[in-house]
Amino acid sequence: MVGLRGGCVNLKQDNILVLDLGSSENTAIARWIRELGVYSEIHPHDITSQNIEQLKTVKGIILNGGKNNIIDGEAIDVLDEIYSLNIPVISVNHPSTKALKTLEQWPSEEETKALLKDFVFHTCKAEANWNMKNFIDDQVALIRKQVGDKKVLLALSGGVDSSVVAALLIKAIGKQLVCVHVNHGLMRKNESEGVIQMFEKDLEENLVYVDASERFLGKLKGVAESEEKRKIIGNEFIRVFEEEARKLEGIDFLAQGTIYPDIVESGTKTHKVVKSHHNVGGLPEDLKFELVEPLFQLFKDEVRACGVELGLPHDMVYRQPFPGPGLGVRVLGEIEPDRLEAVRESDAILREEFALAGLDQKVWQYFTVVPNFKSVGVRNNERTYEYPVIIRAVNTVDALTATVEQIEWPILLKITDRIINEVKNINRVCYDLSPKPGGTIEWE
Ligand code: XMP
Repeated sequence: MVGLRGGCVNLKQDNILVLDLGSSENTAIARWIRELGVYSEIHPHDITSQNIEQLKTVKGIILNGGKNNIIDGEAIDVLDEIYSLNIPVISVNHPSTKALKTLEQWPSEEETKALLKDFVFHTCKAEANWNMKNFIDDQVALIRKQVGDKKVLLALSGGVDSSVVAALLIKAIGKQLVCVHVNHGLMRKNESEGVIQMFEKDLEENLVYVDASERFLGKLKGVAESEEKRKIIGNEFIRVFEEEARKLEGIDFLAQGTIYPDIVESGTKTHKVVKSHHNVGGLPEDLKFELVEPLFQLFKDEVRACGVELGLPHDMVYRQPFPGPGLGVRVLGEIEPDRLEAVRESDAILREEFALAGLDQKVWQYFTVVPNFKSVGVRNNERTYEYPVIIRAVNTVDALTATVEQIEWPILLKITDRIINEVKNINRVCYDLSPKPGGTIEWE
């Protein structure tokens, strides 16, 4: 369900609700309202007036209808009682005789934004008080209230979301936070060391580093199928984390980096599940933790802004996406140590050269892949028989489609030269020109 999660309490910020009546524009509308500096949440169409009152700071309601407003053969509607709350309601693409204003559809993007601005500030008299400083102040207070003097456990992968959660929890409860970083042996070069370095000063002995590389690579031996590899990595991760959790005493809470799209994408009443998001969801029932999810209201760019406000380094906050199974899906087929090292080293060269050329600021995701076949080459006048490295660099908005970055030839040639000369077992470099659809972004 969207919103009202964990008894959602906004201490300060005015709130404009978007009620989901099957529109695909809900997220965009909520986003545009937040861009005006006013907080906005998407809720199911049948939210009760009592629930709205519990949210305390609701200043306006938008009924957002659309093609999917049929559930079990019947057109859905909001509860009549919400009109008696003395909160302004506008209705778009949905018949409502009781709304202050009804529109058949949203106008063009620009006019829609102007209309939202007028509704939010003039009709609802909402205050533009949604900013990261207020958000952090609120969350710090909420976390302290929820956790008291108890301890919180966090699986710290080093990704943006878990790092921002860690920084926020450190600010709120300091060493009541215990972080476990599991190195599954499929991390990029120096990645685990970077995570440890970033948080060890604040957490000291409360930062637990588990080098489970051998264990993961052992489990993955002989496994070539990509989904099978993903499953093993995911399950083993939970197992290692669970073992560490059992060793720790007196922990009542588990923190997670759940963010708003995870909740929206996990399905509302009118939208089919796009993708189930589990985070560390597969933990066994007898590990009884209450969840702390301080980022669940934020979109990804807001998570980044929160990280910046909390003082995390720019490189960390703006790092490119990295799949949970790590380099495991970039060593095609069975994960063999020599090809894993080749992926890791070539990826490090690619990242270094992209940063030098300023492409790290421009390209959405870039990495290398090592397939499981060899070809003939020549080095120092001798025949070689080694693997190729494939470079992938793509741009996308939502990862559902992607285009290839048109890298300048001299940059590609320099990277090629370095990879062939510096990375063991590699004698060839290729550049992947496939858009998505066509190829997916990852090769597995
Ligand atoms: P594809 O390859 O499906 O990737 O075009 C789309 C985006 O998702 C990332 N990706 C993953 N992320 N676990 C993840 O956390 C995975 O198993 C996984 N597979 C792909 C990929 O890096 C790209 O950004």
